[in-house]
Amino acid sequence: MAENPKIILPDIPNYHKLEVYKQHGGYESFKKILTWTKDQVIDEVKKSNLRGRGGACFPTGLKWSFMPKDDSKPKYLAINGDESEPGSFKDRQIFESNPHQLIEGILIANYAMGNKAGYIYIRGEYHKWVTLMQDAVDEAYVAGLVGPKMKETFGTDFVTDIYVHKGAGAYICGEETSLMNSLEGDRAYPRVKPPFPAQRGLWGMPTTVNNIETIAAVPAIIKMGPENYAKLGAAGHPGTLLYGVSGHVNKPGVYELETGITLRSLIYDVCGGVPGGKKVKAVIPGGSSMPPLTGDELDINMDEESLKQIGTHIGTAGVMVMDEDTDIVAVTLRIAHFYHHESCGQCTPCREGCGWLEKILKRLVKSEASSQDLDLLLSVCDNIEGNTICALGDAAAWPVRGFVQKFRSDFEARVKVNRSFQSLNVVHGKRATASNLITTL
Ligand SMILES: Cc1cc2nc3c(=O)[nH]c(=O)nc-3n(C[C@H](O)[C@H](O)[C@H](O)COP(=O)(O)O)c2cc1C
Repeated sequence: MAENPKIILPDIPNYHKLEVYKQHGGYESFKKILTWTKDQVIDEVKKSNLRGRGGACFPTGLKWSFMPKDDSKPKYLAINGDESEPGSFKDRQIFESNPHQLIEGILIANYAMGNKAGYIYIRGEYHKWVTLMQDAVDEAYVAGLVGPKMKETFGTDFVTDIYVHKGAGAYICGEETSLMNSLEGDRAYPRVKPPFPAQRGLWGMPTTVNNIETIAAVPAIIKMGPENYAKLGAAGHPGTLLYGVSGHVNKPGVYELETGITLRSLIYDVCGGVPGGKKVKAVIPGGSSMPPLTGDELDINMDEESLKQIGTHIGTAGVMVMDEDTDIVAVTLRIAHFYHHESCGQCTPCREGCGWLEKILKRLVKSEASSQDLDLLLSVCDNIEGNTICALGDAAAWPVRGFVQKFRSDFEARVKVNRSFQSLNVVHGKRATASNLITTL
């Protein structure tokens, strides 16, 4: 097993170009599976234990097996590149550096499920990446790798189309059922499940939704063999991940590494440590919706099974690092503001609850909160979590609950300052500010 294999973002110049991709074995995995049955392809993906890279880590082969085998109705694949969660910025690297591996992954997935077409849904603000991806798809059509000319190129009856669709510019568009509504031209409201997309998805037809990185991994799995892929990284969650590291590190960026690397190694060995040699105070391991870790938890392995044991998740592997000077209450408010702004408003607990989270956190940041406000904050989280059609509500509640639980003293300090503040106001008879309060103390 090679050390740090780069199977999604290899260091090969001009790999985004079709000719270069082909020189390195591009589209050979697709040719290979054309002699297999659909079930064989799905079994190989199951054997690899590939798990979804869009946040929930759902086993990909199992998801594909939910699609009906009957080919009388059109079936679809929606490939999710909405990537609107703060801290997540890895899929755009695939659009830019390896779009043909994504296209090849779509061909393999569509063959395995008998899909008529694949829709690559790209975040609305990603103008540059929409263009780059569209260029690659056009190139593949011209070369006869996609669309009607596939018959000639590959000598097969299987034909499938690929469309690039620019998103509607909202975080909710990344939720799989909202994404389908958005693709159909409707408002991106989540749909109630069941029926699940494999039963009734795009235009009422069976549909599978997968993340960009998930599908881009498939040609590599076929090429190296599922058993070899399953040996990479952590056993329960194998393969490589595109870790998107941001915040207080010397070398932020997207790094392809095996699952299971320790968070400490990621921050210090890969990303060059924290500027100014400061200590780490908190880390969000997988995009803003995931509960945070403290600076004492850096020896955790970065894979879903390990993180689950300590109450969080790998999510999108968007790692946000915060140093010792970070104002945790302000960070929590900033995150809550995002979810309040992005709540689609369809479910009352999310629509109203996200507003309340932001309101209470604003009071805390301004040191205007009472001691009951912390309990109120957690009670609002209780009332949102699990009570909404989609997981945006959970995504809003988890980080707030996590920050309050792990950094409670930071929140309590704001309440305490408020009390001293009032008494100092009386004693000194002047308007106290946080800074003159500290000076006075
Ligand atoms: C509010 C919200 C936003 C989401 N945004 C994305 C996204 O941008 N990209 C993504 O792949 N999955 C996103 N998801 C998860 C998708 O609903 C879905 O689980 C995922 O695309 C499935 O792909 P996978 O099985 O390959 O991980 C989001 C979920 C929620 C609740």
